[in-house]
Amino acid sequence: EPVDSAAIKAQPKAPNYAFAFDIDGVLIRGGEVIPEAVEALRILNGENEQGIKVPYIFVTNGGGKPEEARCADLSRQLQVPVSPQQFICGHTPMREMAGTYNTVLVVGGVGEACRVVAEGYGFKDVVTPGDLMKSISSITPFRTLTEEELANSRYRDFSDVTIDAVFVFADSRHWGDDVQIIIDLLMSKNGRVGTRSETFDEGPPIFFSHNDVLWKTNHTQNRLGMGALRVMIEALFEQSTGKKLSRAVSFGKPQVGTFKYATSVLERWCKDHSGFGTSAETVYFVGDTPESDIKGTNEFDNLVDEEWYSILVKTGVYEAGTEPRHRPKATVNTVLDAVIFGMERSK
Ligand code: G3P
Ligand code: MG
Repeated sequence: EPVDSAAIKAQPKAPNYAFAFDIDGVLIRGGEVIPEAVEALRILNGENEQGIKVPYIFVTNGGGKPEEARCADLSRQLQVPVSPQQFICGHTPMREMAGTYNTVLVVGGVGEACRVVAEGYGFKDVVTPGDLMKSISSITPFRTLTEEELANSRYRDFSDVTIDAVFVFADSRHWGDDVQIIIDLLMSKNGRVGTRSETFDEGPPIFFSHNDVLWKTNHTQNRLGMGALRVMIEALFEQSTGKKLSRAVSFGKPQVGTFKYATSVLERWCKDHSGFGTSAETVYFVGDTPESDIKGTNEFDNLVDEEWYSILVKTGVYEAGTEPRHRPKATVNTVLDAVIFGMERSK
């Protein structure tokens, strides 16, 4: 059959690059969409002069809701469908640990929402700080649960309960009470509620879904995040026991594991959406936090064959005029500028 060269030429080329977006400080700030984000995604979805569609995924350290629910929120805010198959949040990798630990304390988020997330991941026996406060009212001297909190938490006889691991899924809404309960468990005999270890070496491990000390909301200055809670817990553990806490682990960016996971999510996403090819040669990572987004992207770039290219935006944690602790490959004002920059560079 004769080859129609004109038709081949007219066919838009499938891009060999992709984008990965951080969320807070890049697309969303204080629950509101950053206006440039909507146009940035429109461009990637084909509204560009080359007429191409560029694949993208979302990699946030945030959390507190099931992935499906968060993607439904994002779809509404960003005015484009967002699939859980292109989304990773701070606690997504914790899913893998559901079979490892039987009874777990899950901390953070609004009300008991993170219990729902953990149970959805397959964790068999999920305890929350609310359950402990409802069942042992003297555990937190200055907190009285509201009627709603009492209704949502579960009464239980804790005298024989052993907590096998602590998981901080999302930002704590009650730092003082959560810290008290966590420190109690870290200092306990094998995680047994209400006990004190003599060595302080036998408490359960604690997993944080990320380690961001600061994050960007709609407030002028950056706000304290989960990394700050970790600092506090480590300091108090050391102060109380004279020993360093060696059982704390953080997931999320900048951990290499998160970027590896992002690679597999992106590969699958590209493969399942024909025209995108099977993998991207360059991944533009657009973030606002030098310590997590830029550090992680640069370190991962050094480890893998494909190019991971860090782009820092000025709409979040990074303050223009300061020297970022980890140097991005490019710095631009907004996520829209980042998309235009990457597409131009890879043309
Ligand atoms: O609590 C979330 C915040 O620390 C960071 O979220 O989207 O900027 O990774 P993100
Ligand atoms: Mg961010």
